[in-house]
Parts: sequence; C-alpha cells; structure tokens
Amino acid sequence: MSAPVRRVITLGVAAVIGAAGLSACAANDAQEGGDKDAKTIALLLPESKTTRYEAFDKPLFEKKVAELCSDCNVDYYNADQDEAKQAQQVDSAVSKGADVIVLDPVNGAGAGGMVQTAQDAGATVVAYDRFIDKADYYLSFDNETVGRMQGEALVKAMGDKGGLLMLNGSPSDPNAAQFKAGAHSALDKAGVKILAEYDNPDWSPDNAQKWTGDQLAKYDASEIKGVYAANDGQAGGVVAALTGAGVAEDALPPITGQDAELAAIQRIVAGQQEMTIYKPIKIEADKAAELAVALVNGETPSDTTDFRGVASYIFDPIVVTQDNVAETVVKDGFYSVEDICTDEYAAACEAAGIS
Ligand code: GAL
Repeated sequence: MSAPVRRVITLGVAAVIGAAGLSACAANDAQEGGDKDAKTIALLLPESKTTRYEAFDKPLFEKKVAELCSDCNVDYYNADQDEAKQAQQVDSAVSKGADVIVLDPVNGAGAGGMVQTAQDAGATVVAYDRFIDKADYYLSFDNETVGRMQGEALVKAMGDKGGLLMLNGSPSDPNAAQFKAGAHSALDKAGVKILAEYDNPDWSPDNAQKWTGDQLAKYDASEIKGVYAANDGQAGGVVAALTGAGVAEDALPPITGQDAELAAIQRIVAGQQEMTIYKPIKIEADKAAELAVALVNGETPSDTTDFRGVASYIFDPIVVTQDNVAETVVKDGFYSVEDICTDEYAAACEAAGIS
C-alpha cells in the first residue's frame, strides 16, 4: 500500500484514540526522532551470529534507502534467532506506522501470522532472502543452485565416493531445505556415501563443532573424506572439531561453506576450507532498498518473476575457491587484500598469489 493511503489509516486510528492518545503518539514520535510525514520502511533481520546481517545487509540497505529517498526512515530490528522476539518486532514496526516491512524471517513457515498482521495494518511485506508464503514480494539468491554448487565442488574435490559428513542449515529456515535438496542432487547423482547427516538448529557453529566431535567418536578421521557444511559458520565449527581431534591443518578433508565470511575466505586461502558461496549481498540489499522505496512511493514494480506465487527477484550465487578469491570478493570490494592477508595469512596469501 502506498504511503499516503497508509497515513490516512494512521490518522483514522489516532482520531479514535482521542486527544490523550494523540499527545502520547506525538511524545513517542519525538522520542524516536520520528517525523509524521516521513515514509517508514522497517527492516527486520533474523540473527547476528552469521556476520552478513550486521556487517553487510543492514548498512547496505540503509545507505541505499538514504540515497534514493530523503524523506524515508528505516526502522531496524534484529531478532537474535528468536521467533517470538521477531513477532513483537513486527508489531512494533506496525505500531510505529511502517508502510513497507522488509522481513527476513527466523522461521519462514511460521511467519504467516506476521505477514497477516502487517498486511492488515496496510503495510506491504517484502520477504527478504528467506521465502514467506503470501508475502507481497520476495528477494533471494537461487538457493537450490547454491546447494548444487556446494555438492558439485565436494564431488570434484573428494575424487572419491565417501564417506561424507553432512551438516545442513536450520530446519526453520526455508533456504536450508533448498540448499539441502540442491546438494543432495549433486552428491546422490555421483553416488557419494554419506556417513551421517544433521539438520542443525539455528545454524549454530557450536552445534556443528559438537556434532562433528561426536562423529569422530564413531568414525576414524581417516574415513572422513569430505564434510558438507551448509554455511561458513558451521564450516568453522567443523575445522575446530577436526583440528581439535588431532587432524593436521594441511590434512583436512574438503569442507564446503556459504556466505563468503572473512574467516572462511582466510581458511580457503590457507587451504583449510575448499570453497564458499559468495552471494553479492549488495545486489540483494540494493534491490530490496529500491523496491521498498518504490513501494513507499506508491509504485508497482513490473520487473519481477514468479517464485511460488510471489512476485520475486532471484539472484545468481558465485563459487569461491582459492583460484578466484581475487576475481570475486576482492574485485567487488567485499574485502580488501589487507582484510584477508593479515599477518597470520600473509604467507598463504603470497603462495596463493593474492596481493
Ligand atoms: C540463510 C541465508 C544465508 C545465511 C544463512 C545463515 O538463509 O541464505 O546467506 O545467512 O541463512 O548462515
């Protein structure tokens, strides 16, 4: 819904609340530095353990909105992986008059009530990165392709049919099911033997480390020829478990990842992680900001594609290995050579030709 229509509704509610309610609203606005005539876009992200959200998604989105719209406010929330907290944050955003709600859900399947609350209040809901049924718009990367690329990279690096340990993402994250399906399509086709598989709640790196440690009590490290980790946070836990159990850093099996976190890029340069998936978050955050600004101005975009019945934008993921660190994350300015090649990694960078 466009901002002008939305404001009419807000005024209607205020009139019902009466004079006392109005002064309370005014005080609230003043406290938060709010401007009644400003257009409000709420951004709700799911967690802060994965570095992308606070380091990239939030600042990039806010910067782009500021560039495109001088009278737009961004009202920001992070749910810290807590679904109930996120529901309250949606209520808060709605009560502060958000015209557009950009929501990256902790639990995709459980977010229907939040979408309904927001839409009932006249806001437009954009599902950001994770799909939500009945959202008005959706933006993400091609998640099944992410999983397939991870699986194919493992098949290639393992040069062997197993055994593999498989750490999938959180069962509450709809993307995780797509990564898993994509990875299985490549691994199953190649006949890779999976020793054990785990859907890791909350994508927790600590759980990943503990689970890998538990597998080392069942299997000899020499039987583990590869580890599928759905994201870099988990890959870090896997490396810690394996090296903690005495596997030398230069004898680690191929391990996958996703998110192109700085620590993962450093592990890739040092030969401790096989690959990661780089999703240029700027493309996603910029497009979400453009879309939110267009919607707040009452425009209807015409360049969407359909994904499960929702008007969508789907972007292409990129594989990063030691060979293309320079041409991907460095070239894009996602990280500088100085970020990656700290003292600890200077020799590895030199050996890998990253300077
Ligand atoms: C996914 C998202 C990934 C990553 C992951 C948690 O839903 O697509 O980029 O953030 O959650 O690591």
